[in-house]
Amino acid sequence: MIENLEQQNLRSRGQTDFWIREQCQELILSDRQIEELMRRMILEINRGLRKETHPAADVKCFITYVQDLPNGKEKGKFLALDLGGTNFRVLLIHLKDENDFEMLSKIYAIPQSIMLGSGEQLFDHIAECLANFVKEHSVYDERLPLGFTFSFPLTQLGLTKGILARWTKGFNCSGVVGEDVVQLLKDAIARRGDVSITVMAILNDSTGTLMSCAHSNHNCRIGVIIGTGSNACYVEKVENCELFDGYMDPTKQHVLINTEWGAFGDNGALDFVRTEYDREIDHFSINPGRQIQEKMISGMYMGELARLAIVKFTKAGLLFGGVGSDILFKRGQFFTKYVSEIESDKPGTYNYCRDVLDELGLEHATDEDCANVRYICECVSSRAAHLVSAGIAALINKMDEKSVTVGVDGSVYRFHPKFHDLMTQKIRQFVKPGISFDLMLSEDGSGRGAALVAAVACREPH
Ligand code: BGC
Repeated sequence: MIENLEQQNLRSRGQTDFWIREQCQELILSDRQIEELMRRMILEINRGLRKETHPAADVKCFITYVQDLPNGKEKGKFLALDLGGTNFRVLLIHLKDENDFEMLSKIYAIPQSIMLGSGEQLFDHIAECLANFVKEHSVYDERLPLGFTFSFPLTQLGLTKGILARWTKGFNCSGVVGEDVVQLLKDAIARRGDVSITVMAILNDSTGTLMSCAHSNHNCRIGVIIGTGSNACYVEKVENCELFDGYMDPTKQHVLINTEWGAFGDNGALDFVRTEYDREIDHFSINPGRQIQEKMISGMYMGELARLAIVKFTKAGLLFGGVGSDILFKRGQFFTKYVSEIESDKPGTYNYCRDVLDELGLEHATDEDCANVRYICECVSSRAAHLVSAGIAALINKMDEKSVTVGVDGSVYRFHPKFHDLMTQKIRQFVKPGISFDLMLSEDGSGRGAALVAAVACREPH
């Protein structure tokens, strides 16, 4: 039988879809793989908590020394610093009532030269922004308590002492790893000599998220970040924390743990689900071999993962008639927000997708290309959502409470149209029968959470 041109096109179109779907299979996690991921995650968490296995564990489970959740009565004015997300911020927070607070904040750019410069430059810059802020808001002589949200792995030796274990995301300042970052901040403030500050606590953004959600929802026991980086914090029994250092108050049986789960896989535990795209991202990153799970999940990498798959299929002639563009072929030029935008199109329509492809110089894309690009984005983002879900389900099962609220923050969770639903569905599938949970969007965990940790710390006789 002789095919006419249209039939031939249809046939080859079907084949292109088939090949792309076939090759994207490796990005889809099966339920068995998720079960195995949960098992390995728990193993690593327990290794992180135990003294003997902690040094070699990849999920370090750092003790935060935060032992009190907010009771809703925290009041007063606090300063907060937030370093480690997309921006650096200084905040002035006035906690009034459980559901009433005021927050003033200012975003300051951290140029790449500082992100990759010396620690002294970084902390001088932070101190300068802080000094300008307190002067602008006329609170420089109030000596307000300050909470420092520092969203990198810290070995904490108390609420106000944290030794940087490693840099992550885009940071790599010299002379900071192995140092107490609270001291570095205090030194920089002292070098200026124009402001006086009382640092009440240093905390992680995942801890801030947990605290911020727990303030209005007393059921919150887990805080998760899916933003530039990824991490989780949860409530653990002190008796399981062999590395708890110092005085243990017998009336306090719990402590928050900063899991630093972004490093899950650094020992090879994720190799069974990693793809060539993951290996390439890692290879060209500033921290090869590190933060392996984070590189499969978070906003700093998700767009690039999609780009690598799109490039591969373009070069194989399966997309855009085999014709790419300079922007498409350049590293880092397919932003994670594109993934969210492309997946926001109504089924069968490609308005956002075409905007993105136009920006990339791919005006020649057909509707079929748009559908396939969307499919690739869905595979990458669903995998991220399922990896996060495996971690959350593992934590919920480990905690074994009847009902748990999980506070979640970060740009990926906030802006991706399906992340929340994908997570809810997957977590439900894997939590033990009889346990109920819900996911709650956090209200500025890094800012309000820092004020709350500082407020709770002010209650204590340190
Ligand atoms: C850091 C964590 C942080 C997470 C989210 C990771 O790269 O190691 O400390 O919580 O990013 O910001």
